[in-house]
Amino acid sequence: MNNTVELKNLHIKAGNTSLVYKTSLIVKEGEIFGLVGESGSGKTLTAKAIINLLPQGLTYTADEIITVGKNMLTASNEEKRDHIGKNVGYIPQNTVFYLHPLIKIKNQIGDGYIQHTHKTKQEALEKAEMLLSKVGFKSPKTILNYYPWQLSGGMRQRCNIAMALMNDPKLIIADEPTTALDTTVQKQVMELFKAINEEMKLSILLISHDLGLVKRYSHSLGVMYAGQIVEAGSASTVFDEPKHPYTQLLIKIIPSLNIKKNEPLTEIPGFVQDKDRDSQGCLFYNRCPKAMDICRVKVREHMKEDHYYRCNLE
Ligand SMILES: Nc1ncnc2c1ncn2[C@@H]1O[C@H](COP(=O)(O)OP(=O)(O)O)[C@@H](O)[C@H]1O
Ligand SMILES: [Mg+2]
Repeated sequence: MNNTVELKNLHIKAGNTSLVYKTSLIVKEGEIFGLVGESGSGKTLTAKAIINLLPQGLTYTADEIITVGKNMLTASNEEKRDHIGKNVGYIPQNTVFYLHPLIKIKNQIGDGYIQHTHKTKQEALEKAEMLLSKVGFKSPKTILNYYPWQLSGGMRQRCNIAMALMNDPKLIIADEPTTALDTTVQKQVMELFKAINEEMKLSILLISHDLGLVKRYSHSLGVMYAGQIVEAGSASTVFDEPKHPYTQLLIKIIPSLNIKKNEPLTEIPGFVQDKDRDSQGCLFYNRCPKAMDICRVKVREHMKEDHYYRCNLE
């Protein structure tokens, strides 16, 4: 089986400050991979590096970035744009507010499709109608004629998903796709992602700060802390045998997880270290109940079959 994404040793910097360090992940073909971590841990930047969308002013290096079969480190900018546009459906963070409120759905849903496939507007609308029906709209023609401001948050997110599917991508990247929605709608949208994954055999990189949601919907996951992946593997391995104390604590508090955006986890005392993310020591040191002196300066990386973790404990 091929991998949809292979990322090895990503390092993202703003000037001399490291934001993401030594980050590796693999999204296997046809799976939902959950990238989970507190706000500010580097999830969005990592996803953006995978699709060549890092904001200006940031620099990065990596040993490997292969996205849907394309080597992103050697391709030209034009090749990358074209490849990503055709093969990756990206639903950025805060997309519930992403569609232009004053432009009818039908006048924005087909833009990327027309650009990448050179099809006509009519063909784009037919496809959009089919996809709007697929994401659960009973009368897609009516929806095409609506302005986004006339739709609820959940309906707009369905439109965003339909839009992301227009080019028959191999990979969907959904960045906190349900954060702005209430619990019932959140579940409906997640069930839709699950159905898309199963029926269309699409790989999904699901970014979330909600470990409960990732546990429920992903096949594999990576746990990010302060710009690094501290543990990764199949969902069964990580949830049954979590090795990193941070993962262990997160799993323990899942039932009470109700993390507000931009707030640290109050259940784990202390703060996420924001400086020296490229330190050779463990960045969870100051919050870790099992910390040892050595952790300040050095951390061991373990790779046992597909289970990865960085911790000085066994
Ligand atoms: N354009 C930027 N310039 C400088 N720092 C940034 C920029 N974008 C994000 N950051 C910083 O990088 C870190 C990771 O950000 P991000 O990937 O958005 O985190 P997450 O998605 O996990 O909440 C944060 O500390 C954030 O403040
Ligand atoms: Mg983010």
